[in-house]
Amino acid sequence: MTEPTGRLTVADIRSLAEGDSFKGTFVVQKISRRKDRNDRPFWDLLIMDRTGTVEGKVWADAGWWDYRDEANPLRIDNGDRLERDALDGQVIGVRGKRVSFNGKPQVNFTGLYLLDQDRYPSHDYVQRSPIPLEELERRLDVLKALTPDPVRAFLDHVFSGERGELFRVAPAAVSHHHAYVHGLLEHTLAVAENARVLAEASRGRGAAVDVGLTVAGALLHDIGKIEAYSLNPTPAVTVEGTFLDHIPLGFALFSRLAEEFGLEGDARTLLGHIILSHHGQKEYGSPVLPASPEALIVASADELDFRLFCWEEAVADLDEGQEISDYHRSTQRRFWKRESLLQEEPS
Ligand SMILES: [Fe+2]
Ligand SMILES: [Fe+2]
Repeated sequence: MTEPTGRLTVADIRSLAEGDSFKGTFVVQKISRRKDRNDRPFWDLLIMDRTGTVEGKVWADAGWWDYRDEANPLRIDNGDRLERDALDGQVIGVRGKRVSFNGKPQVNFTGLYLLDQDRYPSHDYVQRSPIPLEELERRLDVLKALTPDPVRAFLDHVFSGERGELFRVAPAAVSHHHAYVHGLLEHTLAVAENARVLAEASRGRGAAVDVGLTVAGALLHDIGKIEAYSLNPTPAVTVEGTFLDHIPLGFALFSRLAEEFGLEGDARTLLGHIILSHHGQKEYGSPVLPASPEALIVASADELDFRLFCWEEAVADLDEGQEISDYHRSTQRRFWKRESLLQEEPS
């Protein structure tokens, strides 16, 4: 067992050995009060920093401190009975110990420290895409340049101003995949890049695929997520996202913008069709099935990026020598980390 040294990040905590202690500063993404088998209350906490999230428990014997005035720290009696709001979305200091539960990294928080929120602004702790924004912007420009006019000018309109800002910071989800700042942009670019390659290959074999419109449709496919998710300060689903869903929201937003811009005809119908059909099946939220090569390609490219992300996340938590992941609920499978392949550098 080691004693805590400096402040650790979530990524550091995930790589600690079982039994190691740590301290750090994080934002509380989720908090709920639970009871153990003996009816003793405890808190379930999901904490986040720029590098990721980790779940942990606060048992009744944890120590609580009020460090909002750091010169005069106060011990809090019965801290486990604090109101949920005192912690939800707040930046807190913690001490804890790495344990594991059902084979997943988990922590027990042994000390909790309320902090001055002006000194520790929550947006500094919210997880973000590992890819720098400038690189994402450059890739967006490359993809936009592949699209035909007037669609290219329409895309400039869609991704500009306040809406463009939202599109750039929005998460792509709250859990499951790309659930962090710039996550929607990162996912959108991966889908559009996958779609471009598939469209070019199909075209090369003689299929009548419009590469530019495939890329444009991929860039627009999840546009409804700018209304379905918010950063509050961590990723959260909005009321509209819960009850209207990002596909209808996206189609409505696209239709309003197309009207405003004056985009008409075939291209408008095809882009609307790509947005509506991109989940590939009616039971996954698409009211129509992909019915053109461009729509088929975007739906496949979207599914591929989602599943590859899930694979990466699932195998990242595996210990050395372990090849089979925990059961992954949203993709209904266990993932395989082939040791022999992972020892080689990807070329
Ligand atoms: Fe989607
Ligand atoms: Fe998507």
